[in-house]
Amino acid sequence: MKSFYITTAIDYVNGSPHLGHAYEKVLTDVIARFRRQMGDKVHFLTGVDEHGQKVQQSAKVRGIPPQQFADEVSAEFRALLPKLNISNDDFIRTTEERHKKVVRQVLQQLFDKGEIYKAEYQGFYSARQEQFLQEKDRNPDGSWPEIYGEVTSIAESNYFFKLRGYQEWLVQFLTKNENFIFPRFRQKQVMEFLKDPLNDLCISRPRERLAWGIPLPFDEDYVTYVWFDALINYYSAVADQPGVWPAAWHVIGKDILVPPHAVYWPIMLHAAGLPLPGGIIAHGWWLQRGAKMSKSLGNALNPLDLIAEFGADAFRYFVIREMNVGQDSEFTREQFLVRYNSELANSLGNLVNRTLNMTARFAQGVIPAAGLVEDPEKELHALWTKTRDEFIPLCEGFQFHTALEHVMGFLTATNAYIEKRAPWKLGKSAEPRDQELLRTSLATMAEALRLGVALLEFVMPASAAKINGVLGYAPGNIWKDELAWDGRLTGCKTAEALVLFPRPQPAAKPATPS
Ligand code: MSP
Repeated sequence: MKSFYITTAIDYVNGSPHLGHAYEKVLTDVIARFRRQMGDKVHFLTGVDEHGQKVQQSAKVRGIPPQQFADEVSAEFRALLPKLNISNDDFIRTTEERHKKVVRQVLQQLFDKGEIYKAEYQGFYSARQEQFLQEKDRNPDGSWPEIYGEVTSIAESNYFFKLRGYQEWLVQFLTKNENFIFPRFRQKQVMEFLKDPLNDLCISRPRERLAWGIPLPFDEDYVTYVWFDALINYYSAVADQPGVWPAAWHVIGKDILVPPHAVYWPIMLHAAGLPLPGGIIAHGWWLQRGAKMSKSLGNALNPLDLIAEFGADAFRYFVIREMNVGQDSEFTREQFLVRYNSELANSLGNLVNRTLNMTARFAQGVIPAAGLVEDPEKELHALWTKTRDEFIPLCEGFQFHTALEHVMGFLTATNAYIEKRAPWKLGKSAEPRDQELLRTSLATMAEALRLGVALLEFVMPASAAKINGVLGYAPGNIWKDELAWDGRLTGCKTAEALVLFPRPQPAAKPATPS
């Protein structure tokens, strides 16, 4: 069995989870479930980033110790996972001993190899981004960009990691591995970034300025820079599990690609003599009226509200159907409702109910075998073959939005097939041919529904299980075997009805801003 290790970014615990965090979990979960159904041995890690200035400051504002603050917020992030039906195998917190131990080992190893040195640093520092800044980071008018928050001038001794010495190696690595970063245009941006000389990376913070971090093993007066600490989570979580590292993919947002994931991380691994991951998937942002949804901007949607209103599957379906992985998407309630009503309630929900109603009405709730097969059936079979054959390559290339669009197209065609065959008319006729066509149409709609559901399962696992349940069907263990149109539902006893996607209550009027 092929091993497939996949990770999300680990979230800062300085505020509650929002839609951007939820999306990343769902996207990674969808990839994990897809690989599992393809037969890979998947290991899926997610977690939280608990150290650093942001957390220290937020805890201070609340007047509680950072660990207590981190415990509370981490519990919120963790609680979101089952609500989203995330199938992670592990959850890491960077304050756990298993993580701190490996961070210290990596630091000591790099220090012993002479990759880390101490020097005086004088320059500018952004507490919000926990980053040292350079003159080139300023706006043309000399001010600092918004994203850095308050920028202060500092002079202090610190430890540096020799990043610069690996620049040429990284350029060559990326040239050889041109699909390391998905989507590809992001890899080009990394190559652009690497045209300027890299500075060595400051990997420490004096303890008197920042106490909330992992002490350097070779100098306890300093704690580890939060990014150096956080990136190692991907490795520390599995360091004692043979055969898991390297990761197949790291799934992250585009804001943390350059430099942390695309520059620091590969160099850290290479310098430590560890194998590199298969690649990095950099997804886009969920926007609200053109601006990134974020805690600091105060425009973040709480995914839990949407889940409470529409269910986890509808939420999962929407974010995967709507967003082209790598691009940004605007989140609007209107667009959510359009997809919910037309694709989930109409195309899928109606097909389920028609299948159940008609099987109950015309076949005593037992799915019949198909009889005569004519052009309408043959057309639907051909569309199925095309949908299925295109589906796997689309998912392998992370084109989930298109894959789902095709599945919906197949379900819509199945509804159109039902209109064409009009079983309610056939049911009134005593003609043997009409009776045979009635059985064919019942068998065909049920089989098409079963197959469509097999393709939706990784996005909507709970709905898929419910639909299979009302069809009286238990899928086998080998997913690919489920994709054959072979009438395996014959004789299955169906349930009477299933309300999957109830019509939403009319939207509450948005509060008028005061
Ligand atoms: N702690 C760091 C990551 C360390 S990984 C070793 C961090 N945390 S974060 O909480 O700010 O962001 C976590 C993830 O959520 C990132 O991948 C980020 O891109 C993603 N998102 C945060 N806001 C987002 C949107 N509005 N839209 C989509 N995802 C975005 O960065």
